[in-house]
Amino acid sequence: MNRHLVLGSPIDELLDRLYAADASQRESLASYFAARAAQGSLDWNRFDAGANQFLRDKLVALDRDKAEFCYHVCRALRARRVVEAGTSFGVSTLFLAAAVRDNLRHDAHGVVIATEYEPEKAEVARANFAAAGLSDLIELREGDLRETLVDVGGSVDFMLVDIWTPMARPALALVAPYLREGAVVICDNTTQFHEAYRDYFEFVNDPQNGLRTMTLPFEGGLEFTVRAH
Ligand SMILES: C[S@@+](CC[C@H](N)C(=O)[O-])C[C@H]1O[C@@H](n2cnc3c(N)ncnc32)[C@H](O)[C@@H]1O
Repeated sequence: MNRHLVLGSPIDELLDRLYAADASQRESLASYFAARAAQGSLDWNRFDAGANQFLRDKLVALDRDKAEFCYHVCRALRARRVVEAGTSFGVSTLFLAAAVRDNLRHDAHGVVIATEYEPEKAEVARANFAAAGLSDLIELREGDLRETLVDVGGSVDFMLVDIWTPMARPALALVAPYLREGAVVICDNTTQFHEAYRDYFEFVNDPQNGLRTMTLPFEGGLEFTVRAH
């Protein structure tokens, strides 16, 4: 029996394929980063050309339970305007767009603004959005998020931050002014990479930013941040 949330055909079959591809890459990801760590040659704050090349065809998808959680949060919020920092092949984007689809009423408009700076990944993501029948709900902005997320065009109900750690704070800082009261921001692996997220935590804990935050006990930690006022 499929224990996963049902988003509808053909999305479920597509997600099964994408998560199988993701699982097949996990071992080589772990070995690569273990080897680079053993060499002492990896700077987590700035991936070098070798690391970027290695990651170019890796999904690094958001874990399925976390993605399903995002779907449910978006449903609870009745989210219609969503931002995603870090799209890759678009796995998490499918959950967010399905939630927006399921929240829409009649003639209402909804969008997931997604962003990805690797052109090959963006191309695959677009094909996945089309295969899922969700293209109309996704605006994929290709390029560096520090440019693509400068103007998100209006109030935001939900944001997913699933990006290399140095980009998390810049992404949130750009979108924070647009978060409506009660909006939720989810950020992945904040326990596992707590130190690397230091500037992100400074931002979410700064009282001037009007946010409240807690770390949920998903694997690696999942930061749940609410715009309180
Ligand atoms: C962890 S993956 C995202 C996985 C995706 N959320 C999913 O569930 O399938 C992070 C992605 O962010 C992209 N990325 C990294 N830095 C970026 C930047 N400055 N601007 C836009 N995209 C970036 C990477 O190319 C990578 O594909």
